[in-house]
Amino acid sequence: MTKIAIIGYGQMGQLIEKLALENNCQVVTIIDPKLDSEISEESLANVDVCINFTVPDVVLTNIDKISQLKKNIVLGTTGWSDKKEIIRKIVLKNDIGLIYASNFSLGMNLFFSIIDNSTKLMNQVSEYDIWGLEMHHNKKIDSPSGTAKILSEIVIKNTQNKSHAQYDRLNRKIKQQELHFGSIRAGNIPGTHLIGFDSVADTIEIKHIARNREGLAIGALKAANWVKGKKGFYDFKKVFSEIINKG
Ligand SMILES: NC(=O)c1ccc[n+]([C@@H]2O[C@H](COP(=O)([O-])OP(=O)(O)OC[C@H]3O[C@@H](n4cnc5c(N)ncnc54)[C@H](OP(=O)(O)O)[C@@H]3O)[C@@H](O)[C@H]2O)c1
Repeated sequence: MTKIAIIGYGQMGQLIEKLALENNCQVVTIIDPKLDSEISEESLANVDVCINFTVPDVVLTNIDKISQLKKNIVLGTTGWSDKKEIIRKIVLKNDIGLIYASNFSLGMNLFFSIIDNSTKLMNQVSEYDIWGLEMHHNKKIDSPSGTAKILSEIVIKNTQNKSHAQYDRLNRKIKQQELHFGSIRAGNIPGTHLIGFDSVADTIEIKHIARNREGLAIGALKAANWVKGKKGFYDFKKVFSEIINKG
């Protein structure tokens, strides 16, 4: 059983608390301003791994404090990519383990693998062109989604005749080397990502639809079990197959 501290008791923190036990994690403490609790030697005593899903502004301060207390970290908060090098250095200097992801969902990480394999295969068939589409509810404040960017990177890495993604509106024909990736925002649409392959004869579509946030919380808890006792700076995507094989 991994002993965890939940840092940030918002939507994700609360879901992680709910699903912890059935995923082999025991919640030792919850740190959040609205609970009047803080990161300290006392509050993190007996903790193996801190799972951080706070607002982006406090990520760096939190990582610094937790690292100095020599506790490992699952970093779920997004919006810190400009501080990645600083955070990596803090982790290595304090000799702890940290695992991060912009998307901890098991299904989405399986989808990444499926798209990785399928684009390698389709790259051998010149008849098919590739495109992407992401759809979300009307409260989402950005587009394209971070996940759309990751999918584009995978497609471009594996497809000889695609060099970059085109997310914006076009006033001209799409160029062969551009991957056209569209965004739709409306109503309550759950996070949906789709990669399509199109030829004269037919279309193949591979789609992921998120039903709720549980997959994200379960992925973060599995990451906590995996990173317990490890040292280093890890990208969840890269160690994903090792994590799911561990169960
Ligand atoms: N990687 C992934 O798979 C994934 C999945 C979902 C969400 N996210 C990201 O995770 C973050 C949190 O998402 P959410 O939906 O759970 O947001 P949320 O509901 O706004 O929760 C954030 C929580 O962090 C708390 N907080 C603020 N400052 C803190 C501090 N110094 N120490 C501890 N807690 C603090 C907030 O408290 P107050 O309300 O009192 O300020 C709030 O309870 C966002 O960046 C989101 O983009 C990532």
